[in-house]
Amino acid sequence: MIAASAGDAALERAVALATQARDRAYAPYSRFRVGAAVLAADGQCFAGANVENASYGLTACAERIALWTGAVAGMSAVRFVVVVTDTPQPVTPCGACRQVLSELAPDATVVMATVGGRRQEATVRDLLPGAFGQNDLAR
Ligand code: THU
Repeated sequence: MIAASAGDAALERAVALATQARDRAYAPYSRFRVGAAVLAADGQCFAGANVENASYGLTACAERIALWTGAVAGMSAVRFVVVVTDTPQPVTPCGACRQVLSELAPDATVVMATVGGRRQEATVRDLLPGAFGQNDLAR
């Protein structure tokens, strides 16, 4: 199967931005650095990295930082969300990030990449089937 992202120059730029953002992660507790980038339909790209806290539960993942940055910048529809880690295999977004992806990037493909060049892809719908969403709030 050919990946949805094959040969996409804008996506390669997003992977590079996510990799750079990873270097700016604030992860003094876990030392697990994650970079992310959100690529919108108009070509704009928003990067993020994980930001931890001494009160551990306040940690924000790289994906949410990138998505929220794009949201407040008025980003257009999201095509790709890139997640970069320095792990043997790519890592998938946590449950909280999947819920935020479902809200802000429902039609996106998530590209999970390692610094070493491994890649895996999944749609947001694949990652969180049956997500709770705005339609569930309809009265
Ligand atoms: N983390 C992310 O930023 N994204 C993920 O997809 C997985 C986990 C962060 C949260 C925390 O700072 C560290 O990685 C260890 O869980």
